[in-house]
Amino acid sequence: MPFLSLIIRNADVIDGTGARRFRGDLGIAGDRIAAIGAMEGQAAVREIDARGCIVAPGFIDAHTHDDRALLSMPDMTPKISQGVTSLVAGNCGVSLAPLVIEGRPPPPLDLLGPDPGWFRFDRFGDLVATLGDQPPALNCGLLVGHITLRHRAMDFLDRPATAAETAVMRLEVERAMEAGAIGFSTGLDYPGAAHSSTEEVVALASALRPYGGLYCSHTRNYFESVEEALDETIAIAREADVPLVVSHHQVSGAPNFGKSQRTLATIDRARRSQPIGLDAYPYNASSKTLDPDRAKPGVRIMVTWSLAHPELVGRELEDIAREWGLTNREAAERLLPAGAIYFQLDEDDVRRILAYPHTMIGSDGLPHDVHPHPRLWGAFPRMLGHYAREVGLMPLEEAVRRMTSLPAAWFGFADRGVLRPGAYADIVVFDPLSVADRGTFIKPIQPAAGIETVVVNGRVVWEQGMYTGERPGRVLRRDPSIAITRPA
Ligand code: ZN
Ligand code: CU
Repeated sequence: MPFLSLIIRNADVIDGTGARRFRGDLGIAGDRIAAIGAMEGQAAVREIDARGCIVAPGFIDAHTHDDRALLSMPDMTPKISQGVTSLVAGNCGVSLAPLVIEGRPPPPLDLLGPDPGWFRFDRFGDLVATLGDQPPALNCGLLVGHITLRHRAMDFLDRPATAAETAVMRLEVERAMEAGAIGFSTGLDYPGAAHSSTEEVVALASALRPYGGLYCSHTRNYFESVEEALDETIAIAREADVPLVVSHHQVSGAPNFGKSQRTLATIDRARRSQPIGLDAYPYNASSKTLDPDRAKPGVRIMVTWSLAHPELVGRELEDIAREWGLTNREAAERLLPAGAIYFQLDEDDVRRILAYPHTMIGSDGLPHDVHPHPRLWGAFPRMLGHYAREVGLMPLEEAVRRMTSLPAAWFGFADRGVLRPGAYADIVVFDPLSVADRGTFIKPIQPAAGIETVVVNGRVVWEQGMYTGERPGRVLRRDPSIAITRPA
């Protein structure tokens, strides 16, 4: 047995594969798990008695907008406080690199915060190098974003890219993959990408193939055309011959409630001939930039940030519009640039999508929003506490699998997402009886209950409800040899 830096004793071990829990001790040497099992008589520099608690692989947040937060708030408290030890950034077509912007970033690039000065990486490799020099508390895998590339390569974005512009973007996808990106993302319903053609996206996604990269898609529509948009994304991945992750899968707007029965059937059918995964967050409200087109009467919308009217953050658009004597749409326009929470998902759809066995958990949290959606601080404990324990949507072991070994396999994070000797020591210790999200839509910034200890690459980053000051995070490469790249 090598010299152990840490032993976690008397825990119930959930190993991340979906297997049933068992009682055991877990020994860590350096950044790896050295042994699992009874370890009487074995000493270590530090010991933690985890009686009554679960020890599990650290959670992998499959969908984030943390690109800039990794640099500007390297403690990453909203994530490590939930037990998250790795995350995927650069989603929805929005990545911090490669792009230099003077002044404020335009929507939706301001999902990464409205402040100037952060889009400063002309090459994707510069961002990777900076994260290596100034590591955050947890690990990250990085996608390169379509909208970022369009801003780099095009003058006006209200049209499809020309062949020459597409060639420029394709070269940047290749450069990003060589520099350490794990794949490419789109946000096809956002300004900046809504006018892109299917062919343009196929050309860019197909650049991933020699690298074994992954295509992550925020699809063209989540409302009335949700099914056509899903068909388009599946066709893009099939043509490009690359594995696909459908981002924050949902069906929005009351007329579309129930359509998840059909979208999941579509995914099931397509999965027989091509690799498709998906992620979802465990809430029945969505959040993104404030879109006046969506500010229709009767739709409940809460303001999460506003540069024009910061004093109205946390208030509902309908109330603001009434006070101003304006329509909801006019009021929304006056608040821009701004972000919002939209209460227009159906709980039955949310549960059906979460229960689907290929769904990973992604917070989609927006770390720079002044009054964020509570998923930023609560997605993972909510899945464990609310949906697994209270609602009984699935066993705890299965909920853990969806946030550990399943995303590790999709994103190609070798030796992560499972507890076994030789795997990286990314670990969370939590209390299965008390684990819960505590943030609400009114008071969203609340650390979770029941997350006792969080370890990243063998170092403790969170204990006794506090960040320890450690910054052991690494930029994770994609290992196509362990990743899901063929139909399941
Ligand atoms: Zn998105
Ligand atoms: Cu997103």
